[in-house]
Amino acid sequence: MTHSILILNGPNLNLLGTRQPEVYGPTTLQDIENLCVTQADALGFTVVFAQTNHEGEMIDMLHAARGTYDGVILNAGAYTHTSIALMDAISSIMLPVIELHLSNIHAREEFRQTSYISKVCIGQICGFGAAGYPLAMQAMADYLGDPL
Ligand code: DQA
Repeated sequence: MTHSILILNGPNLNLLGTRQPEVYGPTTLQDIENLCVTQADALGFTVVFAQTNHEGEMIDMLHAARGTYDGVILNAGAYTHTSIALMDAISSIMLPVIELHLSNIHAREEFRQTSYISKVCIGQICGFGAAGYPLAMQAMADYLGDPL
């Protein structure tokens, strides 16, 4: 058996590479997916990489993750700072979720310094750009331990 994880990306992250590269870097979401596939091979994980611009769809995908995946890495984009529904979804699925951001949200505008999801995630990685994705996968591997 191997661990299976979902990497879920929220609104506007499909525009990475052209979206505010001074904040988010030049890397596209496809580049990040490739990084994640390489890291999944190294860790012996099965990984599914997804993106949605819609809050309800993100919640549906989290609900569906229960029973399908062993953990979720979530870059919820701006819903991080606004969505109690997203926080409730994470609380409800009984899966370890790692909060991930490319930018250091604590060093940015005040409204980005509030995360509704931090309290229900097992941890947060932010500020390391695209490199945060493989870091989060390593953290998930350490958290999950050896597969049964
Ligand atoms: C982000 C940070 C959020 O504040 C922002 O709304 C995003 C991207 C990040 O990865 O740095 O869309 O989650």
